[in-house]
Amino acid sequence: MDSFVLIILGITSNLAKLKLIPALYDLEAAHLLPEDMTIIGVARSPKSKNEIEEYIKNALQQKNRHHNHPIDEDISTRLAKRVHYVNGDLDDPSFYIRLKENLDDMARNNNSCSNRMFYLATFPSLYKTIFENLKEAKLSTNCGWVRLMIEKPIGTNKESAQALNQLLARYFEEDQIYRLDHYLGKETMQNILAFRFANGLFEHMMNSEYIDHIQVTAAEDFGVGERGGYYDTVGALKDVGQNHLLQMLTFATMDKPESWSNEAITLRRTELLQSIKPDPLSIIFGQYQGYREETNTTNDSETDTFFSFKASIENERFSGVPIYFRGGKELAQTVTEVSIIFKPSPDRISNGLGGAMDPNVLIYRIQPNEGIVLRLLTKKQQHELEIEHTYMQFCYKDYSLNAPDPYERLIMDAFKGDQTFFVDAPEVEAQWEITDKLSLSKTPPTVYTKGTWGPQTADETINADGRQWLEPSLLFCKL
Ligand SMILES: NC(=O)c1ccc[n+]([C@@H]2O[C@H](COP(=O)([O-])OP(=O)(O)OC[C@H]3O[C@@H](n4cnc5c(N)ncnc54)[C@H](OP(=O)(O)O)[C@@H]3O)[C@@H](O)[C@H]2O)c1
Repeated sequence: MDSFVLIILGITSNLAKLKLIPALYDLEAAHLLPEDMTIIGVARSPKSKNEIEEYIKNALQQKNRHHNHPIDEDISTRLAKRVHYVNGDLDDPSFYIRLKENLDDMARNNNSCSNRMFYLATFPSLYKTIFENLKEAKLSTNCGWVRLMIEKPIGTNKESAQALNQLLARYFEEDQIYRLDHYLGKETMQNILAFRFANGLFEHMMNSEYIDHIQVTAAEDFGVGERGGYYDTVGALKDVGQNHLLQMLTFATMDKPESWSNEAITLRRTELLQSIKPDPLSIIFGQYQGYREETNTTNDSETDTFFSFKASIENERFSGVPIYFRGGKELAQTVTEVSIIFKPSPDRISNGLGGAMDPNVLIYRIQPNEGIVLRLLTKKQQHELEIEHTYMQFCYKDYSLNAPDPYERLIMDAFKGDQTFFVDAPEVEAQWEITDKLSLSKTPPTVYTKGTWGPQTADETINADGRQWLEPSLLFCKL
């Protein structure tokens, strides 16, 4: 990998402390960073070289950083030594001139034409001025590569996402832009594609002939905690529905890419997203009891902490297969999964067999008890012939003890110039198009009791179709 300078705009942010610095530590520990790769941290208050090094080491001691493994003093010192600090106001054009002088000096000292990665770990309200000033100061191109990493959320609806994408396009080429949604960097997500397209065993059954319906769930059994101020402006549908739930369905149902390449995979993801048709009449919004009393929420808040809705995929393959989504907080269980519920085989003998005769289900369990699991029916181990559920399972806990954290993986991908698991402009706009249609039907949320599966009406919607939500099982891949 070519060497480069990583410029973190907002090195004192929560994001940098909790995600980026720990991810860089793990890359340092794994000797994946080029020897002369340098990091420049930017924020407003002045800091000496010693102070920024101390700051990096302290950040690594925080409890809620992404990997809670012990920190090796030598490795953290090695990482801290790479970090330099330039203080300045991102609103001030003269800061960018100084930054360029610093970068050019470094390149001259190394006698090289440096590659540059700008990581925007700062407020979205600063993006416009950052893009303009990077261009104005001639920092958006260089004799080496220049890339820009930008965090989700991209906009708050399709219109604002389009505006941001157009703004980006004015200053950067699409192959310079890395829109990061950490969900795409999860081992459990990427393995859905490997499982489907490396094996092919189930692929011929991934269509309306065999599938009765699909359920997508992202539930948490805890509330907003300290995130009330942010969450209250967003709500569950935009916080996880617009991105995580749609991405899970996309990975589970997109067509086979022409090749294992960025362009081919992103194209298939986007095609699938563009074919999802949500049913606005099916949307249910809920809010858990006591939400309005949480820190930094408003006492008349109508923010959704739960949503459920029904959708379909309007393509030849999945036409007629209903998709049921649900997500939210303070629910009965913490669980994130996609369940593909198969139609009962016409060949199966049910006559005379006692016990459960439920359908087969393929479960991609993203968390907890991560795995890919097939729910089957087998004979009970007893004298009488009786059928029960059992699971054929691939469990991460048995294999991938050292899977990279999503940030670590995606940062590394960006350093290598691989955009496969980053979101491009059409993809993010297709996601917003789906949730915008649902947001148009926004009604005041129904209050639900903590520890339940949300408002009763969410059950009634699926029950009206003669189906029911699956109780997420903890019987497989036991932790
Ligand atoms: N926090 C997370 O875990 C998380 C997760 C996913 C995505 N994100 C995204 O990551 C980005 C950062 O969010 P955050 O919550 O981590 O931010 P934050 O903690 O509020 O930090 C903002 C950063 O920007 C710097 N900054 C602000 N105004 C500046 C200015 N005018 N000039 C120079 N520096 C300035 C601050 O530095 P000083 O105040 O020290 O100058 C600080 O380093 C956002 O896009 C957010 O949506 C965050």
